[in-house]
Amino acid sequence: MSLKEPLCFVSTPLGFESEAEREIKEAWPELLDASGRPHSAMLPEGEWTKGGIEYPLDPFTAVQLNFFLKTANRILIRLDRFKVRDFPKLHERLRKIDLKSWIGSAPIRFEVSAAKSRLGHEGRIRETAAKAWGIPQSDTGVRVFIRIQDDLCDVSLDSSGEHLHKRGVHTLRGEAPLRENIAAFCLRRLIGDSAPGELSKITLLDPMCGSGTFLSEAATLWSPLFKRHFAFQDFGRLPKLFKQPQFATNYRMTPAIPFRRFIGFDLEAKMAEVSRKNLSEVSLHPSSAAKPSFEVHQGDLFSEGTEKIEGKLWVISNPPYGERIEGPPLDQVLKQILRKWNPDRVALLVPAKVSSLLKAATPARLIEEKPVLNGGIDCRLMIWETAVLA
Ligand SMILES: C[S@@+](CC[C@H](N)C(=O)[O-])C[C@H]1O[C@@H](n2cnc3c(N)ncnc32)[C@H](O)[C@@H]1O
Repeated sequence: MSLKEPLCFVSTPLGFESEAEREIKEAWPELLDASGRPHSAMLPEGEWTKGGIEYPLDPFTAVQLNFFLKTANRILIRLDRFKVRDFPKLHERLRKIDLKSWIGSAPIRFEVSAAKSRLGHEGRIRETAAKAWGIPQSDTGVRVFIRIQDDLCDVSLDSSGEHLHKRGVHTLRGEAPLRENIAAFCLRRLIGDSAPGELSKITLLDPMCGSGTFLSEAATLWSPLFKRHFAFQDFGRLPKLFKQPQFATNYRMTPAIPFRRFIGFDLEAKMAEVSRKNLSEVSLHPSSAAKPSFEVHQGDLFSEGTEKIEGKLWVISNPPYGERIEGPPLDQVLKQILRKWNPDRVALLVPAKVSSLLKAATPARLIEEKPVLNGGIDCRLMIWETAVLA
């Protein structure tokens, strides 16, 4: 067997598959055809696996997802798929893949995995690939994934380059920064099905904002990312569209800013400063004159008094877990957020082991509890709605 139709794979963190699929559906109408006009194709059905979704999509359409998807890890182009049980056959099949037509003589970084297969020796798979393509293995360069599972080999080309959580902003980080795609996932779950008109009246506040990831992700959640470079922009096999300096203006959308205002606090004055610096680099679509309204202050969540923010308020945060940086007990954090800010919704990303403690801490209605792996820690995104308390 080999590929009968073009395929792409949208790789996601475990558990993010359905949210990534929702994002793809939202982005779909914005994608362009090779002449730079909105395309008219229907989104084909995707096939889910753990950690991603495979779509029968041509590479030109697939690579554009890099601009739009906030929760994904990478977008891969499938180059071939075949059954293989021995190394000579692997060599023969790899040799037939015309890698040079995609990436010229750029260095390649091989990403190899093998499971439940006769070819279990990852080092030898690498050597076979390097020989077949006449390209030495490198620690840098374009990633080519060779994955053999149950004797079925997938060869895929990474179209993203740097991991998609890297947005090209946030040059400064705190001690336990949140990956941008995890922040985007939490924000999308917090927003749920809320209408844009409703959201535009809501202030979003992160009382322990660190480097400001939630705030910058929230402001750009509906904006495509044209600021950074993606690997596919150097590929030889794609139409020239993305090589034009002003290519982004072909996307005629004017993205909205989801929330009315964005407010951050951090105990550490230096972190508040880092946030301010990072947020000053946030930009939306090149043709958009809109500017998000950010405000960041130094402040202790546990300082005396309550604060009133005009209009509706939602709070989101990933407080210190005590694993990498010390922090107050997390049930106290939740209680204090409710007492101090009286928000309409609260979303916290916390270790799974404190989930019961937090459930017992408030009579507010828990509307979501989702597993999220954050920096190797088994966490839960917990979202409460407090309207019932009013
Ligand atoms: C896990 S970090 C947040 C990371 C952030 N989401 C990011 O992406 O950079 C937690 C932050 O809470 C801050 N913090 C700890 N105790 C606090 C308190 N009592 N009030 C406000 N901020 C606090 C720390 O300084 C730290 O920057």
